[in-house]
Order: sequence, then C-alpha cells, then structure tokens
Amino acid sequence: MTARSSTDANTSSLPPFPEGWYFIATRDAIHKAKLVQRTWMGQQIVVWCDAAGKICVAKSVCPHMGADLGPDAGGSIMHGRLVCPFHGFEFDTSGQCVDTPSGAPARSARLALFDVHEIEGLIFAWWGIGGRPPQWQLPDNPLRGDDWTGYQIRTIRFAGHPQVTSENSVDIAHLSYIHGYHNVTSETPVLIDGPRLESRWSFSSTRKIAKFGKLTMDVSVIAHVIGLGYSCVEFQEHSIGIDAQLWVLATPVDGTLIDLSIVSRMRTLHQPKRPIVGLKLLPTRMRAPIMNKFIADSLLGDVQQDVVIWSRQHYVPRPRLVGTDGEIGKYREYCGQFYPGERHCVSSRL
Ligand code: FES
Ligand SMILES: [Fe+2]
Repeated sequence: MTARSSTDANTSSLPPFPEGWYFIATRDAIHKAKLVQRTWMGQQIVVWCDAAGKICVAKSVCPHMGADLGPDAGGSIMHGRLVCPFHGFEFDTSGQCVDTPSGAPARSARLALFDVHEIEGLIFAWWGIGGRPPQWQLPDNPLRGDDWTGYQIRTIRFAGHPQVTSENSVDIAHLSYIHGYHNVTSETPVLIDGPRLESRWSFSSTRKIAKFGKLTMDVSVIAHVIGLGYSCVEFQEHSIGIDAQLWVLATPVDGTLIDLSIVSRMRTLHQPKRPIVGLKLLPTRMRAPIMNKFIADSLLGDVQQDVVIWSRQHYVPRPRLVGTDGEIGKYREYCGQFYPGERHCVSSRL
C-alpha cells in the first residue's frame, strides 16, 4: 500500500461516504490474520470469522466500557469469539456478548454490526446513511466454475473519492488520451437500473511483456458498476481468447483517503488462438496464472496513471463537457441516489 499522497484531491463538495457496499478484505486474508482492523468509512472496524465460516464486521468499540477491540489494543479471537482486551468480555459473530470472566453478560451488551455480503471470497459491508439497512444487494457472481485462477490483488491508497474513480467506467475520452488505448468504441449507451449501471466498450492495446517483447490485445469489456464502491468488469480478449474478471473496488478510509483494490482472475487458457511469445512453452496450468499477473499489473499501471490525476483533481459539479466525453452527465445523475438526504453536488443539468 502506498503512503498518503502529498497532494489532496479537492472533492470537498462531495460527501465523503456515499451509501453502498464497500470492500473490506478477502476471506483468505481474514482467516490468515484471525482479527482484522481497518479504518473504514471514517471509523475503526474489526472483522473476524468463526468456525462455521460466518464473518462478522463490527465497530471496534466494546459496548461494556468502550475499549478498542483491535489487535493492536490487545483484542483477540478465541474459539471463534472476539475477546475484549479490557475486562475479557467475549462476543460471538452475531455481535452478542456471550460470556464474561465475572458472570453472565447483560443482554444489551452487543456490538454494533454492519451487514456483510460475500462474492467469491471478497467480503463487503454495507454503509447506510444514518445507519439505514441495505437498500439493495450485490449480485451473486454469474461467472462461476472451477476453471478460474486465484486472485491477483493490488491495493493503493491515495487522496480521492469513489464517485470520481468509478467515473472512469464511462469516461471514454481518457482511455486513449491517458492509457494509450486504440480504437476505443462505446458499444451501447450506458444502461442504468436503480443502483446498477452497465457500460460496454472495446479497444485495442499494445503492452510490453517483460523480456518477451510486445503483446497486442483486442479487448471488449462490460463494466458493471453497482454503487460507487463496486465495479466488476467482464474482460474478453478476442485475438488470444482470454476471459478475465476484474474488480475495481474503492473504499473510503477517513474522508480524504481511499483504498482502491484491483482484483483480477482469469479463466484457464487451454488453447490460445494465436501464439504468445514465451507462453506456449509453459504447461497449460501455468499459462492463466502468468497472464493473470500480467493483466493485474497492466491494470495497476493504468490506475497509477489515473491516480496522478485523481489525487490532484478538483471536483467540478458542472463540468463543461464536449461531445466526445461519453455519458458523464448520465453518470452524475445516477450518482445522486447514493447521497440520500443531501442537497447534492452532482449536476442535474449539464
Ligand atoms: S471495555 Fe470491553 S470488557 Fe470492559
Ligand atoms: Fe483510467
């Protein structure tokens, strides 16, 4: 994770924590750490998993006398229960205090919880304005099967806002200008259905593969944006025959910084449609993981180009758009629903 950027994006006219589902960590990472603590949506949370596999996301504040429950303060997991470091109260994954060293706990001793949703081992929690319960659900993953690689995950931290990073999905003009894509074509108008937005486009791109030379890819993508913290991209490369799935997950940290996680996986590459330098010598089982790493690193490179802009960008509520800007106006209208009760900031008329 990179250090905080020395420059701050001026997105102060946007409320920092739009309503929605936000990524926390993978199930694997939670298992490995046993107890995870994060600064998430401007507060400390703790996350753990019990023996039955149930994951709990809670505010990191003990209801007994307010101790911090994170591992740095001495919070720990024993037999699937979170144990407070101050007086040893124990909490199960329903948030209830179920035991204390000195007698029966009060029934009212409960952690403040966040709703959890899991997609293929990616753990999200719901952030509702004013504590509202989930107003929609994230979908189950339609791209299932056992022929996918594991994840490549890259997380970077910078001054930014999830509305601004998600705007990339509809900002067609920047794809060729910053990222050097060719033949960028919007395939259909942006589709919006409540919190769901779908954008389809195609492009070609030439990248260097370390030591091996250059690789040109002919790509079409379907970007599924569901709220401002969640984008899932179906990625198809036609000349080789690569199917990949990419998530771009923006999670506000403290009101200034966001963590942007890029997650990628790829379908097994049995028979590439054309030879790829260096790849045909590898056994089939190694091709997809290596290509997946290449795709994740390429996407990270693209995102780092965006971060240079995002981390210094001023939010312009009424952008002076031109005809080649795609459907940014439509996207801004879509964003308004994630700030319920706010007299907001996204332009209704551009
Ligand atoms: S403050 Fe947590 S057990 Fe007392
Ligand atoms: Fe971009």
